[in-house]
Amino acid sequence: MYNFKKMNFCLLSIALYILLNACTYNKGETPVPVNRDVRYSVDVKPILVTHCFKCHSDTATNPDRPGYAFFNHFDEIQGEALKVSTANPNYTVLIARLKHIESPGMPFQETPLSDSLIQVIQDWVLIGAPNN
Ligand code: HEC
Repeated sequence: MYNFKKMNFCLLSIALYILLNACTYNKGETPVPVNRDVRYSVDVKPILVTHCFKCHSDTATNPDRPGYAFFNHFDEIQGEALKVSTANPNYTVLIARLKHIESPGMPFQETPLSDSLIQVIQDWVLIGAPNN
């Protein structure tokens, strides 16, 4: 014999599952297609030179706290680009700092970069932060 109560509960569960997924889908950030042609040397590095090198390089004019990453060493920027953020595991430290998800946000005590500049760096992270 069928157990109709059980079956109703089952159908209700499925309906609820679909409904919940429909509601949560696409909430938050709108997915932007990744630009897989992004280049470190051409697209990313100039942004870092302009906005970050004054502190994050070993020739920095403002290395007010020794010990933080020097981005003129590729392995150090790549390390931050690939390290998972403790503030939100969906982001790496570099992106979490740029998006002010991890504190202090970067650039340090300055206005955040524009969304389009952050997107360039995020695309590069998403293709694996290569030295290209
Ligand atoms: C005015 C100086 C300054 C500028 C400009 C700056 N930073 Fe920082 N950055 C710091 C300091 C100081 C810390 C350490 C802060 C802490 O975590 O307590 C830091 C930490 C970081 C960290 C965490 C890893 C580490 O080195 O400790 C990342 C990633 C980072 N910055 C990325 C950037 C990026 C990307 C830019 C450019 C968009 C930038 N920063 C611009 C001063 C700066």
